[in-house]
Amino acid sequence: AIEQTFSIIKPDAVERNLIGDILKMITDSGLRIKGMKMIHMDRAKAEGFYAVHRERPFFGELVDYMISGPVVVSCLEGENAIEKYRALMGATNPADAAPGTIRAAFGQNIQNNACHGSDGPDTARTEVAYFFDKEELVG
Ligand code: CMP
Repeated sequence: AIEQTFSIIKPDAVERNLIGDILKMITDSGLRIKGMKMIHMDRAKAEGFYAVHRERPFFGELVDYMISGPVVVSCLEGENAIEKYRALMGATNPADAAPGTIRAAFGQNIQNNACHGSDGPDTARTEVAYFFDKEELVG
């Protein structure tokens, strides 16, 4: 089925000027960009986004990292978009990510792992709505 998913190009990748390389991998996969913007999250926005990880030991560092610089958020659309984008990203830890994936190519470590993608249909809906108003999904 045609689905939407949510993507973040994270601060480490933006800082290293990799936005274009990552978007090229996304569009080459057949996913289409439904909405996109560059933003610099404040602490409250990042804490809300990662609320599910609040009790994890890495939460504080994760939030510091995600607000350390701008990110590119997008809503991606296509056949089986959620799983397709997860496969394209590769494993959370770049050391475990398969060759040819975004994280294998551009991730630096389990935290600075270049990108985020929704892990299922419910989170995809929630995450897209957390960053985009309906009228911003113009693609
Ligand atoms: P993401 O897919 O955005 O989901 C949660 C993020 O937490 C993850 O990518 C990493 O950037 C970060 N993170 C840091 N340490 C860990 C860890 N040990 N396990 C999972 N995620 C981690």
